Amino acid sequence: MSLNQNRDSFGSKFGIIAAAAGSAVGLGNIWKFPYITGQNGGGAFLIIYLICVLMLGIPVMISEFSIGRRGQRNVFGSFKTLAPGTPWYFVGIMGVVAAFVILSFYSAVAGWTLEYMVRSVTMGFSNQDTTQLGAAFNEFLKHPFRPIIWQLLFMVFTALIVAGGIKNGIERYNKFLMPLLVLFLVLLCIRSISLPGASKGLAFLFYPDFSKVTIKTLLFAMGQAFFSLSLGMGTLITYASYFRKSDDLGRTAVNVSLADTIVAILAGVVIFPAVFSFNIEPTAGPSLVFITLPEIFSQLPLGNLLELVFFVLLAVAALTSTVSVLEVVVAYFSEELKISRRKATLLATISISFLGVLASLSFGPLSGITLLGKSIFDMLDFFASNILLPLGGLLIVVFVGWFLKKEDIADEISNSGTLKVRYLPIYRFIIRFIAPVAIAAIFIYSVFYGSLG
Ligand code: PHE
Repeated sequence: MSLNQNRDSFGSKFGIIAAAAGSAVGLGNIWKFPYITGQNGGGAFLIIYLICVLMLGIPVMISEFSIGRRGQRNVFGSFKTLAPGTPWYFVGIMGVVAAFVILSFYSAVAGWTLEYMVRSVTMGFSNQDTTQLGAAFNEFLKHPFRPIIWQLLFMVFTALIVAGGIKNGIERYNKFLMPLLVLFLVLLCIRSISLPGASKGLAFLFYPDFSKVTIKTLLFAMGQAFFSLSLGMGTLITYASYFRKSDDLGRTAVNVSLADTIVAILAGVVIFPAVFSFNIEPTAGPSLVFITLPEIFSQLPLGNLLELVFFVLLAVAALTSTVSVLEVVVAYFSEELKISRRKATLLATISISFLGVLASLSFGPLSGITLLGKSIFDMLDFFASNILLPLGGLLIVVFVGWFLKKEDIADEISNSGTLKVRYLPIYRFIIRFIAPVAIAAIFIYSVFYGSLG
């Protein structure tokens, strides 16, 4: 299948890896991964997580890359091209819906990082204890419009990058932002491990406590791998549709997964030594990042600067992810409705923002609206992370493993025979047998037994 010459594409290998890793590295790595690891047996969880990335994450990623590059269109269009006259395009529609839903709640949290960036410059957090910082955080969340303004601003930044296209927008910004992210992360790591008592934190993160491992741990690890690697909704299908014919899909998937995993581990190395050095109970979720860390930073010399560096890091990580999610919808609108990229970006941004505002308001004025005991925000998170992503991932591997022709997949992954792909039989075995069963297990578990966190 020849590549469409009129389509925008990435211009370099580094650009591709920066963009795909930019999508993968996000809020999921920096606040979710450290506390899930901490709560699930530290090093033991880490080992299981690594196995999930290797056995499940990388094969699913290669499958998404293959669909995208062969389909040469947005997630919906790629399925239509590869499976004409069948209902497989439904997986593409699910991906677009998942992008809408994820962006609506993700942009809310991304907006908070901007508020905290500004706070670290304007007021600092000095002389405030956990109770005061907690109260300040809750007050901010309940404010009728402050979080919304930040969220909308974040959507505007996202839209500006996406409107620039692939080479001149997404690739250009990722090539600059991802190295910045790594630099900031390394700086914070050095500061954190040089604190007195840091080793207790490292032990908490790395010591393998197998007594905490249950079947649930396995499922947590799989769910986290999916979300963290941006799998199951067509983000990487869409990005791969802009890859060049000479790009090595297998190698790219390995590099991106490696980068994502290293960043997640380094985030743990920033957070836990600091938490333990100050004898604070490691808490879960958003409060770890928005309450506990500000308290710690406020007690260190140059704390405000560290604070600023941390929230810039978080904002950058979030931005390179929101860009990839918005691109799913923009590519779909522009190609399927045949409108310009600018118009598609405007349409997608405005419509997603409506849902996003509801997610933000669910911490304040709309907190009374709940479904099955979940607020609008939690409902959107649950629906996307626990239903749409696993189901999407399952259908993607079944599509590549059982529907597409074996020769076509071999052709795509080997760049028409120019690359040696010795791993092909193992890959095929995994996506036909192991991945569908494993993913079905997460899916059934999360639907019937509630949120995976
Ligand atoms: N992988 C991103 C993170 O870890 C989130 C994400 C999920 C982005 C799905 C795109 C698609 O924060």
